[in-house]
Amino acid sequence: MAGTRTFTMIKPDAVEAGSIGGILNMIAEGGFRIVAMKLTQLTVADAKKFYEVHAERPFYGELVEFMSRGPIVAAILEKDNAVEDFRTLIGATNPADAAEGTIRKKYAKSIGENAVHGSDSDENAEIEAAFHFAGREQF
Ligand code: PPS
Repeated sequence: MAGTRTFTMIKPDAVEAGSIGGILNMIAEGGFRIVAMKLTQLTVADAKKFYEVHAERPFYGELVEFMSRGPIVAAILEKDNAVEDFRTLIGATNPADAAEGTIRKKYAKSIGENAVHGSDSDENAEIEAAFHFAGREQF
């Protein structure tokens, strides 16, 4: 059975653009409940660790630099079929391919600066949530 939680980050580009409120509104209208949330900033070491599965990919350095350059919003979201439904709500990695009505279609600038992260599996959602939040911060 699909899990009920996913993990998201509103990325530095979207925070810089003043889009936190608009993105949270789309998340709420998509039927997700906020279980945990904070404004925080990744260090370079944090970003390297969070994205270490992509360490061999050509864009890794750029991704780490981007994700650590300014504040992000980290959150855990709850809904039936959370991981898959949230990936549908955020849209394709490259905003040029993102469907109408998705968060990336509206807020992402490019494949590198694409406004939001969403976990790609139930297992990773749990790992990523634990990376950012203690149990007592989850409601
Ligand atoms: S995914 O979500 O794993 O299926 O997407 P993937 O395409 O494998 O990308 C993994 C993360 O790398 C980011 N990405 C990039 N960053 C910079 N430049 C380029 N060209 C690029 N391509 C992909 C992508 O946004 C994913 O980050 P997250 O935070 O998971 O969205």
